[in-house]
Amino acid sequence: MKIAVLGSLNMDLVMEVERLPRPGETVPGRGFARYPGGKGNNQAIAAARLGAEARLFGRVGQDRYGEELLEMAQGAGVDTSGVEALAGAATGVALILVGPDGQNMIGYAPGANGRVDEEYAQRILPWLREVDVLLLQLEVPLPPLALILRRLPPDRPLVVLDPAPARDLSPLPLARVDYLTPNREELAVLIGGRAVDQGELVRAGQELLSTGVRNLVIKADRDGAYLAESGGVTRFPAYRVQAVDTTAAGDAFNAALAVSLAEGKGPYEAIGFANAAAALTVTRKGAASSLPTKAEVQDFLRHPYRYPTRD
Ligand code: RIB
Repeated sequence: MKIAVLGSLNMDLVMEVERLPRPGETVPGRGFARYPGGKGNNQAIAAARLGAEARLFGRVGQDRYGEELLEMAQGAGVDTSGVEALAGAATGVALILVGPDGQNMIGYAPGANGRVDEEYAQRILPWLREVDVLLLQLEVPLPPLALILRRLPPDRPLVVLDPAPARDLSPLPLARVDYLTPNREELAVLIGGRAVDQGELVRAGQELLSTGVRNLVIKADRDGAYLAESGGVTRFPAYRVQAVDTTAAGDAFNAALAVSLAEGKGPYEAIGFANAAAALTVTRKGAASSLPTKAEVQDFLRHPYRYPTRD
C-alpha cells in the first residue's frame, strides 16, 4: 500500500527537565539529546515502519541537519526523493522540553518548512494522485495544502489531516478531508476557543462535522480516542502504559490510522490499531526514534500485559 506525506522535517533538540517550567522560570535539565522529528517526517517514518511504501514531500535547508534528517528517513525505508533542499533556508528546528510524566512543551522554527509553496505543491500533485492515503499536518503553510485538496480527484487518495499545530482551517476545503484528527486542545481552537471537556465533546464534534469534513477522530491522550459521527461519539479507551515521552504519539496515531485504512480496514479497527501504535510510542524517548514497527504493534495488541503499565 502506498502512503504519501506532505509536511515538515525538523531536527528536535530535546531536554528532559525535572518539571515543565512556568513562564519566566528556569528549571534544571536531566539530559539532552538530538532526534529526527517534524510531524511530516515522523508520520512518513511511522508509516514505513508499519509496512507502507511511504514517500515524503517537503523542504529542508542545504545544511547538516537537513542531510542528517534525509539519511535517517531513508534508513527507515522512506522515499525522500521528492524532498527538496533549498539554498538560503535553514532546516526546521524544534526545541522540546520533556517533563517527568512524559508531557512536553514544543517551540519550533519552521525554516525551510515555511517555504513549501503552491509551485512545489503543483509539481508534486501527480505523485499524490497515485497513492492510497495522503497524510497532511499544519507545520507547512496552508496555501499549498489548499491547492492540493482542490486539485485531487474527489475520492482518491484518502486524505488524513492532522490539524497540528492548531490554526484557523477556513482557507482549506475541508469537504475533501476524509479524516480530521485534532487533539482536545486543537479541537478547542477549531471551534473558536471554547474549552472542550467531556460533556462538550459531542457538541464540538457535531459542530466540526458540519464544516463538511467526512470523519472526525479526536485524540484524547490518556482518555484514548473518539470517533465523532452524525449519530454520536464512540470512545476507544487508551492503553495504560508508562509514558516516558509523549512526543510524536499523535504522529504515530495518524500514520497507523492511515496504514490500517489503506489496508481496507474500517474506522473502528483502524482507530484501535492507531491507539496501540501511539501507546507504544510514549513508552520510548524522542520523536522518529520512538515510532514502532508493525510487528511491535501486533505483539503489543496480543500481549499488552507484558508492557509496563501506569496506575
Ligand atoms: O509531533 C511531534 C513533532 O512536533 C516533533 O518531532 C517536533 O519536531 C514538532 O514538530
